[in-house]
Amino acid sequence: MIFDAATHEQAAEIVGRYPQQRSALLPLLHLVQAVEGCVTADGISFCATTLGLTGAEVEAVATFYTMYKRTPCGEHLVSVCTNALCAALGGDDIFARLSAKLGIGHEGTAGTPGQPGSITLESAECLAACDHAPVVTVNYEFYDQQTLDSAEEIVDELQAGRRPEPTRGALLTDFRTTSREIAGIYGDLAGTVDTPTASPETLRGNVIAEDLRQTAPAMPESYEMPPLPEKK
Ligand code: FES
Repeated sequence: MIFDAATHEQAAEIVGRYPQQRSALLPLLHLVQAVEGCVTADGISFCATTLGLTGAEVEAVATFYTMYKRTPCGEHLVSVCTNALCAALGGDDIFARLSAKLGIGHEGTAGTPGQPGSITLESAECLAACDHAPVVTVNYEFYDQQTLDSAEEIVDELQAGRRPEPTRGALLTDFRTTSREIAGIYGDLAGTVDTPTASPETLRGNVIAEDLRQTAPAMPESYEMPPLPEKK
């Protein structure tokens, strides 16, 4: 794929945010994913050229993190947490139900990738919402305390072209838009993220700590990054 002028401009904006250009690799991979629907060999080489890295260095990062998809994703990415707590509370059964319903396994896609109503399904590690287990996310937006039926309803809605409201956080968009937002490129920042994300369950530890007058050690006034090792 040839990346257009707008993508080059957005890439330059991302790179300009970091003192070391190689630090822009993670958001740049998300930008590539927003354009391509996954990270292809062209995307790897775009990142390498933009950041002065080797293809192998970019590939190593892109294959390490599961948020970078190497095959084209559906309009929506449905992630079912099957880590210990969610699994014990029904996550494994939810994944099995959705897998059977869609006729796909882990990282399979039902429908034509990128087309309306298409869904990529994944069995995910902890989605950082254990206090709301079992959890499903769609494009990383949270649907808390799911049941077999409620998870299936979410998928029905997505396949019908609707966007069910997440339990908390931002409104649901699609996988490519979310990837662009994770890259730090927003069409409408206020409209996208200006919603509460923390729930009483999540903040419960803070409330208890305040009641007990517990405090955390103060952050240092400033912190100097050690220099990067010389490239050999
Ligand atoms: S174990 Fe499922 S969100 Fe943590």
